[in-house]
Amino acid sequence: MRWRWRKSGEASPYNRSMQTLTLIRPDDAHLHLRDGAALAAVAPHTARQFARAIVMPNLKPPVTTTAQAAAYRERILAAMPAGPAALTFAPHMTLYLTDSTPVAEIDRARDSGIVRAVKYYPAGATTHSDAGVTAVENCFAVLARMEEIGLPLLVHGEVTDAEVDIFDRERVFIERVLTPLLRRFPRLRLVLEHITTREGVQFVESTGSNVAGTLTAHHLLMNRNALFAGGVRPHNYCLPVLKRETHRQALVHAAVSGNPKFFLGTDSAPHARQAKEAACGCAGCYTALHALELYAEAFEDAGALDKLEAFASFYGADFYGLPRNTSTVTLERADWRVPDSLPFGDDTLTPLRAGEVLRWKLR
Ligand code: DOR
Ligand code: ZN
Repeated sequence: MRWRWRKSGEASPYNRSMQTLTLIRPDDAHLHLRDGAALAAVAPHTARQFARAIVMPNLKPPVTTTAQAAAYRERILAAMPAGPAALTFAPHMTLYLTDSTPVAEIDRARDSGIVRAVKYYPAGATTHSDAGVTAVENCFAVLARMEEIGLPLLVHGEVTDAEVDIFDRERVFIERVLTPLLRRFPRLRLVLEHITTREGVQFVESTGSNVAGTLTAHHLLMNRNALFAGGVRPHNYCLPVLKRETHRQALVHAAVSGNPKFFLGTDSAPHARQAKEAACGCAGCYTALHALELYAEAFEDAGALDKLEAFASFYGADFYGLPRNTSTVTLERADWRVPDSLPFGDDTLTPLRAGEVLRWKLR
């Protein structure tokens, strides 16, 4: 990572006079790209920011087979515009776990060279999760094979029990599902995705090197007050939902800790503006446009810009056994206004922090 300063000399990594920040090109370990016109609208944003992304499989219908993942990968590559970043951007695929995923599909995934992981959505937990897992016991044979071959399980960690308070669903999932699961499959490679609680951080910290966690920019920057700042704020609504400030602080602490078990995963999740600003609005924050700028803000606010590169560019690649990238990106200190609206097929898309001024800008 290279630093450039307004004045040479006394500068520390936390000095706000730093003007540019060059880091190895990062990877997004958790991304929603959608399909069709939506895919075409959002894919260039990610290709500009990231070298690679782990692409989530919650399409309608879901990507449950290696053959579907291969076809989806081709559609993603076809959606990339001409240009140097797009030419080098590589989507890495995931399979959507169901109650009836056969063990043979896991073997096909391993042999494919394009499927990096399997995503576990508890049925009903979030967007397009109705085909997800109704009881984890239904997947024990598949999980045993994944443990054996080292294929990671990516977990949306929330119980769907309507009796459980929505702010407790991650903590209860860790108690009821994840802890027993790791007792049964102690060597299973597992990522607790988009961690939102102190308990999630502690779970990752207290388990072996086979367990990791991703952290989103929006969960690092906002607490649950952002959902109700002067009125309902649908564009800040995602799942797992934002939590109280003490939890946000635990997430920031984990992100800047230098612990390689925590790495960048945006969970950038585009929905048409009308689907967000609705009586029953969809969950998802759109951050692919300005992910690095948002993470840089969170790390700078924590006085830890020097920790951003490893979090964004090294630890995710290391976990997935991918070579670290060699090209670089540069952020410069420059105020710019996030657009109010972006094209999204026949609809529009509202990015996180629309209309607000950010202090870092990707060149
Ligand atoms: O906020 C979210 N949006 N959380 C998820 O788990 C899914 C995602 C989506 O696909 O929209
Ligand atoms: Zn997601």
